[in-house]
Amino acid sequence: MATFDMIVKNGDVVTPGGVVRADIGIRGEKIAAVQPGLSLVAEAKKVVDAKGHIVIPGVLDVHVHLELPFCGTVSSDDYVSGTRAAARGGVTTLIDFAIPFKKKDGKYESLSQAADNWHRKAEGKALIDYTFHICITGWDTHKDQIAGMVERGFSTFKEFMIYESEGWQSDDRALFSTLEQMREHDTMLLVHAESARVLDELIARHHTPALMKKHKAVLHAITRPNFIEAEAIQRAAKWCEVTGGNLYIVHMSTAEGTEIVRDAQSRGVPIIAETCAQYLVLDDSVFAQPDGHLYACCPQLKKKPDISRLWKGLRGGEVSVVSTDTCTFTRKQKAMWKGDWTKIPMGLPGLETLLPVVYTTGVLKKQITLEQMVQKLCSNPARIMGLGGRKGHIMKGFDADLAIIHPRNKTKVDPKKMETNADWNPFEGMELAGFARTTISRGEVIVDDYKVVGKQGRGQWLSRKTAGPKG
Ligand code: URP
Ligand code: ZN
Ligand code: ZN
Repeated sequence: MATFDMIVKNGDVVTPGGVVRADIGIRGEKIAAVQPGLSLVAEAKKVVDAKGHIVIPGVLDVHVHLELPFCGTVSSDDYVSGTRAAARGGVTTLIDFAIPFKKKDGKYESLSQAADNWHRKAEGKALIDYTFHICITGWDTHKDQIAGMVERGFSTFKEFMIYESEGWQSDDRALFSTLEQMREHDTMLLVHAESARVLDELIARHHTPALMKKHKAVLHAITRPNFIEAEAIQRAAKWCEVTGGNLYIVHMSTAEGTEIVRDAQSRGVPIIAETCAQYLVLDDSVFAQPDGHLYACCPQLKKKPDISRLWKGLRGGEVSVVSTDTCTFTRKQKAMWKGDWTKIPMGLPGLETLLPVVYTTGVLKKQITLEQMVQKLCSNPARIMGLGGRKGHIMKGFDADLAIIHPRNKTKVDPKKMETNADWNPFEGMELAGFARTTISRGEVIVDDYKVVGKQGRGQWLSRKTAGPKG
C-alpha cells in the first residue's frame, strides 16, 4: 500500500485540467499524487478532510511591501504580521521589493545591500515563502550591478516613474537601458507607471489652502486623472517594444492602460499587466467619506468604468495577475496628513483579503470562473515571476502549497479579528467568502480551522533564474 505523509481528501481540487473531486497525496514538501479515491487505497500519517471545500494552489501575492520606510514613516505590517495575514488569506508565497536607499551623502546603497537588508527583515520571521524584486533607484550606481543580482538568484527588477522625493525615481534613460539588460538576461522589469512631471504640475496647481479646505482627500483623485497612468504605460510599452526586454506593469488601475497593454500584446510586445484587488472593487467616491484619506494609495482608486474594464481584461487575458500592493498604515500613521493630501502615507493593507475579495466579487459574482481566479492568483504569477515548475499548480512534483476554502461561508471583514496590524480595513464590513480554512505550505499545515498555527521563521527564500511572459 502506498504511503504518504499527508493526504488531503475529498476536496474539489482546481488542477491544470479543471476542477476534479480528488485526493492529494503529499510526501515531504511535495505533491506526490492527485487522484480520486487515493485515500481508499493509500495510507498517510495525517489526513486533512476537505469535503465540501474547494482546494486551490497556495496563492502568490507578488506585490507586497513589508516594513517599508516610506512617506516619512514605516509601513506597519512586517514579516511577522504580514506573513500571518497572508497565510490566513491562503497566500503561501509573497514577493516584496528590496529598495536601495539614498544615503545622507547622496550616494545609493548597492542592489546587493538592499537585498541583504530585506533578507534581514524576513529571516526568522517569515511564516510563508518569499523573495524580492530588486529595485533600481540610482541608475548610474546600479546599472553594472544587475548581472550580479541575477547570479544571486533574483530575476525581477523594479523601477518607479514617480517618487522623486523618496530618491526612487527612474527616468526614460534608466527604463530603456534596464529593459535592454532584461532582454540580455531573460529577466523582467516591473514598472510603477505614472507620469511624474505632469503629476507634479497638477499637484502644484492644487496645493493651495483654499482648495485643500474645499476638496480634502478628494484632491488625490482630482490630481491623478487617468492620463497620468496611461501616458506612462504608453511610454514604458514603447521602450519595451523597441528593446524587446520583458516588462510588467504593476498595479494597473485604468481602462486606458488596459487598452494600451492589449494593443501592445497583440503586436507581440513582451508586456504583462497586474492589477490589485482594490482597483477591482473600490472606486474614488471613497475619498469624499469623512475618513477618505485612509484609502489613499498610488495610483489612486479610479472609477466604475475602469473597474469594469479591468475585470474584462482579466477575462480577456490582457490582465494576467491580481496582487495587493500591501503597504499597511494604521489610522495614526494616516493621520499624519493633517488635511494635506500630499502628506498621506500612501498604501493599503491587502494580503489577508486578496483571495476572499477576488473569490467573492469575482467568482461568486460570476465576473470570472474559479479556474480563471486560480490563473490570476496562482499559476500566472508563479510562471511569470520565474517560479513555474515549483509553485502555482496542484500537480505531482510541485510544492505542496494549498489553500482550502469553503465555497459559500462568509465572514464580515473586521480589523479587530484580523492578523494584519492595520486597525482599519478598506473592505471593512464586506461579507466575504474565501478566507482559508486550511493553508498548507510545503506540506505543513500553517492555518487550521481559520487560525494561524504555523511557526514564524519557517518560510524560505526562493531563488529564481528567469522571468517574463514565457516564465
Ligand atoms: O500607495 C502605494 N502603492 N504604496 C506603495 C508604494 C508603491 O507605489 O507601490
Ligand atoms: Zn507603485
Ligand atoms: Zn507597490
